[in-house]
Amino acid sequence: MAAPRVLAGLRATAPNLSVGVLAVNWLAVGRDLQKLERTEARLLHFDVMDGRFAPQLTLGPALVKAVKTTLLKDVHLMIGNPLTALEDHAAAGADVITVHAEVGWPVHRALQVIGDLPNANDPARGILRGVALNPGTPLEVLPPLLEMVDLVMLLAINPGWGGQQFLPATRERADRVRRMIAASGREILLGVDGGVTRRNLPEVAAVGADLVVTGSAVFEAGDPEEGVAVMLTGLRGARQEGMKA
Ligand code: DX5
Ligand code: ZN
Repeated sequence: MAAPRVLAGLRATAPNLSVGVLAVNWLAVGRDLQKLERTEARLLHFDVMDGRFAPQLTLGPALVKAVKTTLLKDVHLMIGNPLTALEDHAAAGADVITVHAEVGWPVHRALQVIGDLPNANDPARGILRGVALNPGTPLEVLPPLLEMVDLVMLLAINPGWGGQQFLPATRERADRVRRMIAASGREILLGVDGGVTRRNLPEVAAVGADLVVTGSAVFEAGDPEEGVAVMLTGLRGARQEGMKA
């Protein structure tokens, strides 16, 4: 079951933010999540790592479930075999589940399963299916996957840590992915994840993503409400400037 209304809503507000929850101030997590709900950001991004596919270990479905929020829960699975984790994350309330193309053969099956899983927040809508690509992965893996995804997420860093440096090659990769999406004739969102800061918003805006994942930049100054406003204003302003140029 696809989630066309959610997808259309995200397209209409593009570029939107998916806020990386790992960067939150954990001692004030309840307050900061409430603040985020007052912003224009639509998604909360959960980075799930297994210590193998990506070097850190993080909480998975327990955290996704524990977080009560009106934001859409955007789950980024950086784990070797996503098949073992899909049902639990769906039951925990995922609205978007993204798996990595680099996991090899399980990726097609995983995308099929996500498409069939019910959305625990609202049984009337499905879960958006995302595929993520590391910066070094050839884009040729994408075309056969496009008929089964709602989101292509380009990582602008190597997975594992927040606060890394945005890789400039991301822009050209995004241009190529956009052409692939157009050729597919399907309605697919483009996302970019990692290394987004308050200082490189023009560079990120030039990528032209519908969804921008950002963690540390939203929380670094202590007030995530202000953080989201700064990031969205900068991103949308820079994009408009880019369109005029
Ligand atoms: C990397 C994750 C990213 C990253 C974002 O493994 O997928 O979501 O942590 O964090 P910032 O915005 O701090 O680079
Ligand atoms: Zn992520």
